[in-house]
Amino acid sequence: MSNEEQIAYWNGDAGRKWAQRDAMMSRMLAPVAEALMNHAEVDAARAVLDVGCGGGSETLMLAKRLGPEACVLGVDVSAPLLEIAREGLLSLGDAGKGVAFLEADASSHDFGEARFDLLFSRFGVMFFDDATAAFTHLRNAMLPGGRLAFACWQSLSNNPWTALPLKAALSVLPPPPPPKPRSPGPFAFAESDYVETLLGDAGWKNIAVTPHKVSMNWEGSGGFDATARELVNTGPVGRLLVDVDDKTREAVHAAAADILAPYYQNVQLSLPGAVWLVTAENA
Ligand SMILES: C[S@@+](CC[C@H](N)C(=O)[O-])C[C@H]1O[C@@H](n2cnc3c(N)ncnc32)[C@H](O)[C@@H]1O
Repeated sequence: MSNEEQIAYWNGDAGRKWAQRDAMMSRMLAPVAEALMNHAEVDAARAVLDVGCGGGSETLMLAKRLGPEACVLGVDVSAPLLEIAREGLLSLGDAGKGVAFLEADASSHDFGEARFDLLFSRFGVMFFDDATAAFTHLRNAMLPGGRLAFACWQSLSNNPWTALPLKAALSVLPPPPPPKPRSPGPFAFAESDYVETLLGDAGWKNIAVTPHKVSMNWEGSGGFDATARELVNTGPVGRLLVDVDDKTREAVHAAAADILAPYYQNVQLSLPGAVWLVTAENA
């Protein structure tokens, strides 16, 4: 299992752009982390692995919530995002004593003997070339009875914050080749049955996949146009715009502005989204 394409993606331009937007993204996504922590009742955890921790905001949330006796290891393949995570850790002072960050592919890194009692992830586990092998490998790093709690996106149609910018882009651009279903990416785990099957095949027990609605609130200091551009340039639609010329890019932004205008109020673009909160045990 190589995950080469994703490792290059998260260390290239996209990873650097994510790093620039990390503060805004972490504010916007904090309610998802909190909902997952409450839903999974994580408070008793003492050794946590945060997979695909990115800029580390939820790793630090976990450290604050679990207290100084807990160890939290954030693992990610992205050097630019881990740089942000390490800066955040410095600002946490003593409360961050139990936190460490590691640059590694979580699906194959040797974590040593089984030692974690909680595997946590907010949107960091949908990018493995072989998801069943990855979750088997990760389970082997867990203590008996160790728990899994992750959040992943439901289908594109349940996530207008991506579906609407995509609709705007496809009114200008030719449709890209349809992605292989379940291939690595933000919507790889859209089907709850598939998530249950792959976790079961990876040896996890007591699997539960629970729907949860979120509001994606994009902040922008430059008014509606700048905020709409932020939204369009992030995520799957941003990937479609990487190689287009300026005229085409502007046409996509104009189409997106028409579609997104009704969602702008109080200097925010607020669009609905939907995630799965997934829990399981290493029984
Ligand atoms: C959508 S971001 C989520 C980041 C963070 N958890 C958050 O919610 O802000 C996905 C993260 O998964 C990481 N990632 C992708 N494949 C990975 C792998 N094989 N091992 C570890 N991290 C990985 C990416 O580098 C990226 O930081």
